[in-house]
Amino acid sequence: MNITVLGEARHASPLSCFVSDKARVLFNAIVDPDAPPTEELLLEVAGPREKLFFDPKKTRAGIVTCGGLCPGLNNVIRSLVLQLHHVYGLREILGFVNGYQGLDPWRGEEPIPLTPAFVENIHKEGGSVLNTSRGPVDVSVAVDNLIRRKIDMLFVVGGDGTQRGGAALFQEAKSRGHALAVVGIPKTIDNDVPFVSRTFGYLSAVEEATKVITCAHTEAHSVHNGIVVVKIMGRNAGFIAAGATIASQDVNFTLVPEAAFVLDGENGFLAALKKRVVERAHAVILVAEGAGQHLMDTHEKQFDASGNLKSKDIGIFLRDHIDAYFKQEGIPFTLRYIDPSYIVRSVPAGAEDAILCDFFARNAVHAAMAGKTGLVIGLQHDVFTHVPIELLASRKKQLDLSSPAWQGVLAAAGQDFAHFPA
Ligand code: F6P
Repeated sequence: MNITVLGEARHASPLSCFVSDKARVLFNAIVDPDAPPTEELLLEVAGPREKLFFDPKKTRAGIVTCGGLCPGLNNVIRSLVLQLHHVYGLREILGFVNGYQGLDPWRGEEPIPLTPAFVENIHKEGGSVLNTSRGPVDVSVAVDNLIRRKIDMLFVVGGDGTQRGGAALFQEAKSRGHALAVVGIPKTIDNDVPFVSRTFGYLSAVEEATKVITCAHTEAHSVHNGIVVVKIMGRNAGFIAAGATIASQDVNFTLVPEAAFVLDGENGFLAALKKRVVERAHAVILVAEGAGQHLMDTHEKQFDASGNLKSKDIGIFLRDHIDAYFKQEGIPFTLRYIDPSYIVRSVPAGAEDAILCDFFARNAVHAAMAGKTGLVIGLQHDVFTHVPIELLASRKKQLDLSSPAWQGVLAAAGQDFAHFPA
């Protein structure tokens, strides 16, 4: 998977250790003679290059954060600025405000000049000092603005939708012969970006979710037949719910978008819940927001500004159906509902994510300085990689229900009722 380069890299790098441009990492590292043959995908290894396309003294960079919040956004912004300024010597770095809107001079605010002093302590806070928004931008207007402001490289921090936007900006600049390095840094608490084994913010979200589950378990355990439903983010993939189930060990039912389930009947969720409550007198249900959509009216569809299908509220749906079912069954119970959705993604990054953010950011700068464009920094087998944006946009990343990892989630929850691939 070769990466587009803007031209010959002639400038000497100020660094002393380099990664060869020929180095590759195998996407699929498992060799199993009994398994069907897998595609031999080789990805470029990220890291500093000996020769640079851009002369740091004459180069100007831009940063933009898009989509939902995620722990670590400020860490990424800070490490980008410090790497550009201190390691490569750039003196002009602009932060575009309010996501892609900020690239449109008619809709956006004036960008913020970013300096080491400005970013000094931002990593200690959640959110993004550049704010964020959802929704596309007129790429022609945006590229006009980037050219007018003499921006040579743009770091795009966002999920798969945002990276698709980055691809459009890179294509537009290319069609105009403007040497713009567009480098993406994958961001989502959902951890559902392909070619990225772990997105920053995911583990911090799992950490926060685990605290909520501990409280939910205390609530459920402190009353007779206590039932607590916790709804957690995860629109198309249930990685947060799966991770929090294993991390907390206090969840009894984990419901994810990848596994459709039956509500009623002897093999259904409600019957399994009843059995649990009768036997153990308490239950904690962790449901990802994208789960159970098949149980609700799927005709009326709503989309957010980025074109993402909005999930129907499975948390409220489950709460109401559990309430009706236990009343109908004549079993005394106490039901609570907790929705910490936006809380888990607006916290500062934990230590592991802070480290990950720094690596993603510094590798993004290395790629841009070398004149690489139209890529996202990936992570495979703990090796940072260069992934062409088109490739990233061509796949989905979801839980593999046939994997030992998912079996581990079911075992941790002690979950045993009919569910099948959605
Ligand atoms: O960024 C991903 C995410 O947090 C999803 O988990 C969630 O479905 C979505 O964003 C929520 O979007 P919004 O910020 O538009 O409410």
